Amino acid sequence: MARKFLVAANYKMNGSIASVRQLIQQLNESKLDPDVEVVISPPCIYILLARETLKPGIEISAQNVSDKPAGAFTGETSVEHLKDVGATWTILGHSERRQYYHETDAVVASKTKFALDNGLGTIVCCGESLEERESGKTVAVVEKQLKAVVDAVKDWSKIVVAYEPIWAIGTGKVATTEQAQEVHVAIRKFLAKEVSSEVAEATRILYGGSVSEKNCKELAKQADIDGFLVGGASLKPAFIDIINAKQ
Ligand code: G3H
Repeated sequence: MARKFLVAANYKMNGSIASVRQLIQQLNESKLDPDVEVVISPPCIYILLARETLKPGIEISAQNVSDKPAGAFTGETSVEHLKDVGATWTILGHSERRQYYHETDAVVASKTKFALDNGLGTIVCCGESLEERESGKTVAVVEKQLKAVVDAVKDWSKIVVAYEPIWAIGTGKVATTEQAQEVHVAIRKFLAKEVSSEVAEATRILYGGSVSEKNCKELAKQADIDGFLVGGASLKPAFIDIINAKQ
């Protein structure tokens, strides 16, 4: 079965009530490719507002979640909280969380398992630094990050992988279509070897890192790029063009 193209917005720690309302109004009023699954990930505090105002059919993701059930975990957000306010996905293992909040592969795997077991879909991020790419370690780094998830979960039906080279995030330095396609193929081969050929064939692998309205069409033509995880451009009207990249 063909993999459905998925375009996800990651607002990161940006925005306000007014700007989230504005972005949602734009999504609600725009003509979006009906063959594309769209997910937006506003800051947690705006998820309820987003769900109450966004048209049905567009789903909502968190940017992170706890791997603990509700209880005495000050400052955390539980899977149950997210479901209660209408989120159906969470991003996990974003490089900013790995870098600034010291989330290890084991933490990312534990959060992925807990979220899936409790009914959230997960967008699991992986990607190498510039130094790792330049020393030829890209595939090894990505495989190590994903191996922790492979070892922790059995059911891959609600996992989306996002390949985000760290050197391309927020830098305007997008990976070339060949660089992205090459890593996506390597990830698919890795899933075939470590999980199954069915899972490798069915799992969507998104590209993230300076995706814009200018480069999205070429990237979307690559056979193993199944969508995008968009940061900066998701806060602009350009996001609509990125959703419609395949048209
Ligand atoms: O989650 C999104 C990625 O970090 C990409 O961010 O599109 O601003 O480069 P960017």
